[in-house]
Amino acid sequence: MVKPKIAPSMLSSDFSNLASEAERMLQCGADWLHMDIMDGHFVPNLTIGAPVIESLRKHTKAYLDCHLMVTNPLDYVKPLGKAGASGFTFHIEASKDNWKELVQLIKSKGMTPGVSLKPGTPIEDLYPLLEDENPVELVLVMTVEPGFGGQKFMPEMMDKVRTLRKNYPSLDIEVDGGLGPSTIDMAASAGANCIVAGSSVFGASDPAQVISLLRKSVEDSQKTS
Ligand code: DX5
Ligand code: ZN
Repeated sequence: MVKPKIAPSMLSSDFSNLASEAERMLQCGADWLHMDIMDGHFVPNLTIGAPVIESLRKHTKAYLDCHLMVTNPLDYVKPLGKAGASGFTFHIEASKDNWKELVQLIKSKGMTPGVSLKPGTPIEDLYPLLEDENPVELVLVMTVEPGFGGQKFMPEMMDKVRTLRKNYPSLDIEVDGGLGPSTIDMAASAGANCIVAGSSVFGASDPAQVISLLRKSVEDSQKTS
């Protein structure tokens, strides 16, 4: 059975205190730290890049789950590998022509390859990447339009999660956008096991409680499925 992974999105953290925010999340029970890398082109927002990952890596051994919302993901593989990223999840919309090369390069740099899709992109677009002899190891289903934290969860994306889980029982399936105590049961029962949560965790008075609630929902759904 796939393991539940709770990944607070550091986009909602206090960036001026990134190392201590990361440590705080790990103390609160986070499994992964979700790092949103945006280039101001693929999405209308600009966040962090390899230099920040490199700085953070000096302060933590945690799994850095990097979500690349960039137009040219290939350009980021070497710098992020060197910086100490753990997972490298690119968007299919930005890699239609070079995903094979991307996956190979990501693996050769010691990172775990993942692919993400925007709400308007059909799940079928991912099948070649999952069926390849060198497949991606994680699928990140966006449950908001990528670019910003604090948006409303799109329940209609759960059909994608259900379809994926049915076809790939041991795949890491991640959801990202609007996840929190009021939406987690929809994602967990659909079959998601990796849960990204930004504003619901960082905005909580007790983040540890939110993280454990998210985990429990995934565990409970796995027991009954
Ligand atoms: C949005 C990012 C998310 C974002 C999630 O494009 O990919 O990771 O930080 O934030 P919340 O949980 O607040 O929707
Ligand atoms: Zn993200």
